[in-house]
Amino acid sequence: MVTFISQSKIFKNEEVFSPEHLPEMLPHRENQIKQLADNLLPASKGRKPQNTFIFGSPGIGKTAVAKFVFREFEEYSGIKTIYMNCWDFNTSLAVLSKIVSDFGMFVQRRGWARDEVILRLIEALEKSKKALIVCLDEVDQLIYKDQKVLYDLLRLNQYVKNPIGLIFISNNPHIFANLEPRIMSSLSLEEIEFEPYTLQEMRDILQERVEYGFYSVEEGVVALASAHAINKGGDVRVGLECLLKAGRLAEKETSDKVKVLHVKKVLKTVDEVKPRILKEKITDVEKLILDILNNEKKTLTFDEIYDIYSKNVESPLTKRMFREYVNHLESINLIKIGKRKFNRSRFILKV
Ligand SMILES: Nc1ncnc2c1ncn2[C@@H]1O[C@H](COP(=O)(O)OP(=O)(O)OP(=O)(O)O)[C@@H](O)[C@H]1O
Ligand SMILES: [Mg+2]
Repeated sequence: MVTFISQSKIFKNEEVFSPEHLPEMLPHRENQIKQLADNLLPASKGRKPQNTFIFGSPGIGKTAVAKFVFREFEEYSGIKTIYMNCWDFNTSLAVLSKIVSDFGMFVQRRGWARDEVILRLIEALEKSKKALIVCLDEVDQLIYKDQKVLYDLLRLNQYVKNPIGLIFISNNPHIFANLEPRIMSSLSLEEIEFEPYTLQEMRDILQERVEYGFYSVEEGVVALASAHAINKGGDVRVGLECLLKAGRLAEKETSDKVKVLHVKKVLKTVDEVKPRILKEKITDVEKLILDILNNEKKTLTFDEIYDIYSKNVESPLTKRMFREYVNHLESINLIKIGKRKFNRSRFILKV
């Protein structure tokens, strides 16, 4: 009988190279962890936590820090923390329903209006009597579609005494720039900026993963993967993917350890990770826009793209609605919009 499951000689634990893995430690984020934890702390004494806005470039530990602090804080204080990625919860109703259902209350999928869900939420909070902490990660996806949720969450304070803390995360430091000043001042956000990792910091982070994940690596493996991650914009996920692929190659070649040569061979297959993640999440219309730009070698004006688009679909969107999708693609950095010199029409570029 052939058996396909055999003990790996390379991977001690392959899972630690997955971007979803939340490590026990987050080296070089001690200050941000402390700052966020300090902001939540008042909640454990029944006081209002400090609302916080975390921002910084992709793959530098923002989500990891929030989840890490939430896990520790919930354990320490018994206070409910709710984490949401706004790609998955991008309307006020979806966000509020998620909070209600995390309180263990029934939420009707369809048919409930926002006000009904808010009533349920008030009921849940009154019953629990405890503070509530909510993290809205990639909050741009929500603000871009439906800002009402901010009003709703702030309004809760008028009805219940529970301290409520809000944590927002985004790549874009200016995401709140156009918000009404009244809302901004009620939010009174404290900002925590995440700076990109230096090469040495990247090395430390990847070294730690390697120790958990591989049995044996040649000297230089971590250095090479780290340099590649820094070259590709500083996203730790790039480094992790290099290591994972190098490990798999080492396994395939029945090597006794992961070697520098393995990393060298996989490097060119590992590009920036964030655009790939985003391309999975965007709508079909947005995918079509990227396809159109990919197929044309030159840059296109908005009108040219719209023409190609409307010839290719059965019932095209209006130009105005189509523009929203183009703008959204720009806001998540998948395309660039600029102006040609001497020509007022906007041109659009794939990044
Ligand atoms: N200091 C660190 N120590 C260990 N692992 C880290 C550290 N910083 C980031 N990572 C790991 O890198 C990966 C990406 O981190 P994370 O998801 O937190 O990025 P992010 O800043 O939220 O990026 P994005 O803006 O794209 O959402 C995760 O697997 C995370 O565990
Ligand atoms: Mg994140």
